[in-house]
Amino acid sequence: MSKDIVQIFDTTLRDGEQVPGCKLDTTQKLVIAERLELLGVDVIEAGFPVSSPGDFKSVQEIAKLVKNATVCGLTRAVKKDIEVAAEALKFAKRPRIHTGIGTSESHIKFKFNSNKDAIIERAVEAVSYAKSFVEDVEFYAEDAGRTDNEFLARVCEAVIKAGATVLNIPDTTGYCLPDEYGAKIKYLYENVKGIDRAILSCHCHNDLGLATANSIAGVINGARQIECTINGIGERAGNTALEEVVMILRQHPTLGLDTNINSKLLNDTSRMVSQKMGMMVQPNKAIVGANAFAHSSGIHQDGVIKNRETYEIIDPLDVGVDESSIVLTARSGRAALAYRAKIVGYELTKKQLDIVYEEFLKYADKKKEIVDEDIHEIIETSNINIESVA
Ligand code: KIV
Ligand code: ZN
Repeated sequence: MSKDIVQIFDTTLRDGEQVPGCKLDTTQKLVIAERLELLGVDVIEAGFPVSSPGDFKSVQEIAKLVKNATVCGLTRAVKKDIEVAAEALKFAKRPRIHTGIGTSESHIKFKFNSNKDAIIERAVEAVSYAKSFVEDVEFYAEDAGRTDNEFLARVCEAVIKAGATVLNIPDTTGYCLPDEYGAKIKYLYENVKGIDRAILSCHCHNDLGLATANSIAGVINGARQIECTINGIGERAGNTALEEVVMILRQHPTLGLDTNINSKLLNDTSRMVSQKMGMMVQPNKAIVGANAFAHSSGIHQDGVIKNRETYEIIDPLDVGVDESSIVLTARSGRAALAYRAKIVGYELTKKQLDIVYEEFLKYADKKKEIVDEDIHEIIETSNINIESVA
C-alpha cells in the first residue's frame, strides 16, 4: 500500500529554543540545522528573525546552508516582522514565511482588544503581504485549540483566498483532548472552501501530556504536516516530540501514513540537541530516553532474552540504538544474571547460578544497579569452584 507522506516541520530552533536556558548561538544552530536536514525533516523553522539581530543572523545563515529542506521564519501579523523575515530568508532555496494571529475569544479580547472581523482583516493583510515576498506562506491561528470551529473555518477560508499554502492549527495551550483536536481538523477539512489548495498542520503543546496524541489525531483526520521538536522541547511542557510521531506512524502501517525521516538517526540527534541545549532527556522518555530499551524486571528480562519482541515493539537498531540492555537490579531473575555473567565471561552451570544468585540478591538489595565489576566480584567471592567457570 502506498503511504501518504506527513511533512515534518521541525521547530526545535524556534519554539524549542524559546525555552529558558536553551538559547543557542548561530554556530550551534547551524550544526543542528545541518543535522535536521540529514535526518530528513521537510521544513526547518529556523527562528523569529525580527526578535533579535542574533536570531536574524541565524535564520540568514541557515537559509544559505540548507540545501533541500524548506527554511521558515516566524512573524507576527505585523508588516515590519514580515519584511525582516523576508530579508533573512532571501538566500533560502525554499523560503517560507510563517505568519499569524490569535483567533480565540481570549486572544481577540485580551491580547488585541479587537473583534472577529478585524482579526480576519489583519490575517488576510499579513498573508497577502508575506505573499508579495515568497510563494510559500504558512498561516497560524494562534490558540486555535480554544477557537470555535466555525470562526476558525472563516479565518482559514479567508487566508487561503489570500494565498496561504499551509494552515497551522496550534493547540497553543495544550488544552485539547485527542478526539476534540481530531474533530477540529476534520471539521476544517470538510468545511473550509479551497482547502484542497492548502495543507493543514498540527502544532500541539504538551501541557496535559497530550501533544503527541493530538498530533496523531490530527493526521488521522486529514492534516498532512506535524510541527514538532527533537526531544519534545518547547514552551512550558514542550511541543510534540518529533521522534514519537515518526515512530508511531512507522509502527502503525495500517494508518497508511509515513514521513521522510531516517529513523536510524533519531537517537544520535536527540543526544546532540540535548547536549547543545544543556537540556537533559528524562530516562523514561519514549524512543530516545536512556531506559527506552532497558529491561530490569525478572519477568521482562526472561522474555526479552528468549525473544526481544516479547517486550519490545521497536527494534532498537531502527532508532539508532545498538541493542537493548538487560539491567541488573534486585528485581532481576536468574535468566538475566546468567545472561549478563556470560557477556562478561562466565558460563555458569545451573548449580553455580543458584549459588551466585543468592549472593547477587544480597548485593542488589544494597545497590540500585549491579554493574559488570560487581558481577566479577560476586562470582569471585561466591563459594563456587572458580576453575570450572569459563
Ligand atoms: O504555539 C503556538 O501557537 C505557536 C505559534 C507561534 C505557531 O508557537
Ligand atoms: Zn508553539
